[in-house]
Amino acid sequence: MTERPQKKAEAIETWNFVFPNQSNPYGNMFGGELLAIMDSTAAMAAIRYSGQTVSTASSERVIFKHPIFVGDRIRTVAKVVLVGRTSMMVRTDVFVDRNEGESGEKDILSTTAHFTLVAFDENRVPCQVPDLIIESETEQKHFELAQQIKAHVKRREERIQHVVEKWG
Ligand SMILES: CC(C)(COP(=O)(O)OP(=O)(O)OC[C@H]1O[C@@H](n2cnc3c(N)ncnc32)[C@H](O)[C@@H]1OP(=O)(O)O)[C@@H](O)C(=O)NCCC(=O)NCCS
Repeated sequence: MTERPQKKAEAIETWNFVFPNQSNPYGNMFGGELLAIMDSTAAMAAIRYSGQTVSTASSERVIFKHPIFVGDRIRTVAKVVLVGRTSMMVRTDVFVDRNEGESGEKDILSTTAHFTLVAFDENRVPCQVPDLIIESETEQKHFELAQQIKAHVKRREERIQHVVEKWG
């Protein structure tokens, strides 16, 4: 049996302007628009990591901490923080740059989410991804948080299954 390769994850960064057609009438960016940007940045991180095509299986723990407004510049940073056999959990953070000069604000953490993506082979069968190398303290912290989220999701799914079996 061939040994599973190991790999370090790299952070993928995208920048976007927030346009009026991405907001509600009060000038706040729609959560769904933001999630689309986060999901596609997460997918790029997962593709770079696995070297395969990927699909999003789930998104978890989306925290909208600070609103984003029309005209803001958003920097989305995605990195694989936990891997299973064929799945990768990607932490995705969005930072906001707002205004310029004296009133300028830079790098405000606005939103964090964890996406789980699955790698596929050419027949669209889930395939093994490399084992994750964790080096820094931050990587270890993010790995442990991702483990807790995964365990929480598993417990939640088991409870839901129980309810579905009981009530249909
Ligand atoms: C994601 C998908 C491939 C999983 O299919 P499946 O038959 O459950 O596949 P498997 O049982 O082999 O699971 C593959 C991996 O996905 C993980 N997985 C499956 N469903 C999941 C979910 N809802 N959340 C998180 N992980 C999930 C499994 O734990 C497994 O991970 P592991 O190999 O690291 O242990 C399938 O449900 C799918 O194609 N969904 C649609 C994806 C899509 O269209 N995304 C875009 C939506 S906008």
